[in-house]
Amino acid sequence: MSITITMGIQKGGCGKSTTTGILAHLLSKDYKVLAIDLDSQGNLTELLSGQVSNDFVGNSVLEAMEYHDIPSYLHTISDTLDLLPANNFLATFARWLYTGKTYQGERIPYKGSPSLVLDKALNPIRENYDFILIDTPPSLSEQTTNALCASDYVVVMYECSNWCYSAIPNFLDSVGGAKENGERSTEVIGILRTMNDVRRTDAKAFNELIEEDYPDLIFKTIITRKAPVGRLSLYGFQDNKELNQVISQYYAFYKELLNRVQNR
Ligand SMILES: Nc1ncnc2c1ncn2[C@@H]1O[C@H](COP(=O)(O)OP(=O)(O)OP(=O)(O)O)[C@@H](O)[C@H]1O
Ligand SMILES: [Mg+2]
Repeated sequence: MSITITMGIQKGGCGKSTTTGILAHLLSKDYKVLAIDLDSQGNLTELLSGQVSNDFVGNSVLEAMEYHDIPSYLHTISDTLDLLPANNFLATFARWLYTGKTYQGERIPYKGSPSLVLDKALNPIRENYDFILIDTPPSLSEQTTNALCASDYVVVMYECSNWCYSAIPNFLDSVGGAKENGERSTEVIGILRTMNDVRRTDAKAFNELIEEDYPDLIFKTIITRKAPVGRLSLYGFQDNKELNQVISQYYAFYKELLNRVQNR
């Protein structure tokens, strides 16, 4: 059975793309994985492909959704990992949804629910994969609602800071909205504390606060701020001498997530 998981939070720079990329890498060792970049920044695209996101203009998740045709826009990373890439033109997604006009000037009117474009496009190909992972932008935009409505589970990314703390309730409301209005079960599988700076007392406080607020949702693993993880955006997954250090940061979380998903 195929399982779809979104990494999300509307606060920027909380480790969504990094975590999605590392999870895709780890899962693809044992499973067939599709990674979907739903952020016009194209960070997941660049991380997994090792190419610039502009290389995928005209061949991206945007066109896959507009033409309701995912297979034609898949980019192969390995035998077990496919990528649906993104680039800056994904910023025109909402304009297409509400006007039917693509950024290339074509008319492809869309009449369905604006939040179910991705879900409907994924349905014919879901069973080709064990896991589908979705990276989202730092906003509660149409891309995010589409990701949530297309997902069985959501990992809430929590960088241990005040502004991320205040983003959590609205994000959880959006997950609830997706469950209510979408056609999948969409539930939070856990809250992941990321980019934790162990030397900062405020980070420690926000670390503890979130655990008190959501004791059943919080993952035990805390991802600390470490240079090799930060440099993953530079070195990627091929010939990266620091990759073992990156994996060791994330492995316990990976196991925790897998365990939760498999025991639902
Ligand atoms: N554990 C970590 N230690 C050090 N640096 C990290 C860590 N995780 C992520 N980074 C770096 O922090 C920055 C933000 O991470 P990332 O891009 O994954 O966050 P994001 O939530 O996807 O951001 P956005 O909201 O802009 O999409 C990046 O430069 C990334 O390389
Ligand atoms: Mg990102």
